[in-house]
Amino acid sequence: MACGIKIENLSFSYTAGNQVLKNVSLDIGPGEKLGIIGPSGAGKSTLLLHLNGILAGDGVVMIGDTKVEKRSLPDIRRQVGLVFQNPDDQLFNPTVEEDVAFGPLNFGYTRGEAATRVRQALGEMNLEGFENADSHHLSLGERKRVALATVLATSPGVIAFDEPFSSLDSVMVVQLLGIIGRLDATLVIVSQSLLPLASCCDRLAVLVGGEIRACGRKEEVLADEALMREGGVDMGFYREAFKKYLE
Ligand SMILES: Nc1ncnc2c1ncn2[C@@H]1O[C@H](COP(=O)(O)OP(=O)(O)O)[C@@H](O)[C@H]1O
Ligand SMILES: [Mg+2]
Repeated sequence: MACGIKIENLSFSYTAGNQVLKNVSLDIGPGEKLGIIGPSGAGKSTLLLHLNGILAGDGVVMIGDTKVEKRSLPDIRRQVGLVFQNPDDQLFNPTVEEDVAFGPLNFGYTRGEAATRVRQALGEMNLEGFENADSHHLSLGERKRVALATVLATSPGVIAFDEPFSSLDSVMVVQLLGIIGRLDATLVIVSQSLLPLASCCDRLAVLVGGEIRACGRKEEVLADEALMREGGVDMGFYREAFKKYLE
């Protein structure tokens, strides 16, 4: 079931004296789809890693009514699925099938239920026939789809995606947008692929230098060219590029 996310005054440093997240606060409603943009190194991936407690900074992260903290981690990991930017951080089993079945089995589904979930998730990611493949022999785009399937198979109430559209061909991007549109979950999607991101999100947040510069309706954020530029997006480029090719 989709649940809300509340982040209050979250700050984090990997090394002393180098603050990567600075007083980040965000309120994301149940079932909402929030996009996050920001230049490379802004702290986007670092922020996502706080949603399921892989990292723990100063401040509060709430998933529904549950605070993300050491003792709530088993519960939080069930509720929050994280799709890593690099699929090699997500895949560690000998075959695709075992990777996708790992989450459902770990969460106590029977072998039969897990097999159904694996079939559905692989089907959604166009991966039928890949069951016995070794993930390490697949292309980056294929591994990316397997990584997405591992999270879809557990139907979490919150899904955080780190650059889900990168390395996918545009047919697969459109298919993923369809899946995203149908998910009954609260979604936080970090992406530098502006067009798919804008098409699937309700609101957009701009993270710059570890700080939330803005968070609002996507139409408002996209219309603010100076803000978008701070977020690492050159809107003029998109305007000119599409004028040239679509006329
Ligand atoms: N494991 C780490 N150890 C030390 N510094 C890190 C680590 N991971 C990321 N950083 C630094 O934290 C900052 C934010 O990184 P990241 O969250 O990956 O940014 P983004 O995802 O927005 O590109 C960068 O300056 C990066 O070099
Ligand atoms: Mg990143």
